[in-house]
Amino acid sequence: MRVLILGSAAGGGLPQWNCGCANCRAARERGLDRTQSTVAISADGERWILLNASPDLRQQLARHAALWPRSARGTPIRAVVLTDGEIDHTLGLLLLRENGSPLPVYAPAGVAALLRAEWPLFRVLGAYSGVEARRLPEREAVALADAAGAPLGITCTTVAVARRPPRYASATSAGPFDVGLRLRDDRTGGTLAYVPTARGVDPAVELVARAADLLLFDGTFWSDGELRALGVAAPSAREMGHLPVGDPGGSLAELPRLGAKRTVLVHINNTNPILAANSPERRALEASRIEVAEDGMEFEL
Ligand code: MLT
Ligand code: MN
Ligand code: ZN
Repeated sequence: MRVLILGSAAGGGLPQWNCGCANCRAARERGLDRTQSTVAISADGERWILLNASPDLRQQLARHAALWPRSARGTPIRAVVLTDGEIDHTLGLLLLRENGSPLPVYAPAGVAALLRAEWPLFRVLGAYSGVEARRLPEREAVALADAAGAPLGITCTTVAVARRPPRYASATSAGPFDVGLRLRDDRTGGTLAYVPTARGVDPAVELVARAADLLLFDGTFWSDGELRALGVAAPSAREMGHLPVGDPGGSLAELPRLGAKRTVLVHINNTNPILAANSPERRALEASRIEVAEDGMEFEL
């Protein structure tokens, strides 16, 4: 399986339009850029599946030749899998509206319901390409397939990771609103665990991540009070449903016991000190052999 990290940043990206934190200032001055959280995978290098669809999808697809159209309207993107209904993981669906036929979109039940009601992307897209909404029943292996039903060579198992509904639907109760994915290449047996949002390293996360060849995990915040420490009136990392990396009981301490061959943090907020290459926080990660994703990183599993 080929794995391409299209975007490594959390919502807002780096630099974030209204943020003057040290990382965002440095990014502007040095012309650095991190786009918002999305991954692309393929078993055959020809037909691709997007894991989430960020607001930066247009530029992300333009940056990778493997994702360029092969002919007039000949996109190699065959399906999208959503882990949640957050704006930074779904808005990009609108950018795929020129697709020639309804795009298969796999989503957990609670997320599909949000996209029909509170954040009605499925309804809006109905007037354009349309969406073929497909279910991702919890803890069932689903063979991902293209619009015609042809298998794409990758099997997906989802596990609900305990989180709250998105802010735009805070009163909704029917989840799951967030899942972690275990994706297995049918031919090579290579496994990718994709958990871009997680409140903890709990048994659910263990189920998808244990001994994976590659674990892409929630690296949103280093510390629980990271935003408030900058004077931003915001919930804490844990209140937002993101396990802080560096706090006691955080992912730096908890991830190594999962035994993944490689562990790479994704969905990194622009305020996170691990983005500075020479920070003590980055060195602490390196000492535990946990990597920080970059846009454009590639893996073969
Ligand atoms: C999250 O990952 O918690 C959300 O994307 C935050 C947000 O942008 O509202
Ligand atoms: Mn997010
Ligand atoms: Zn910032």
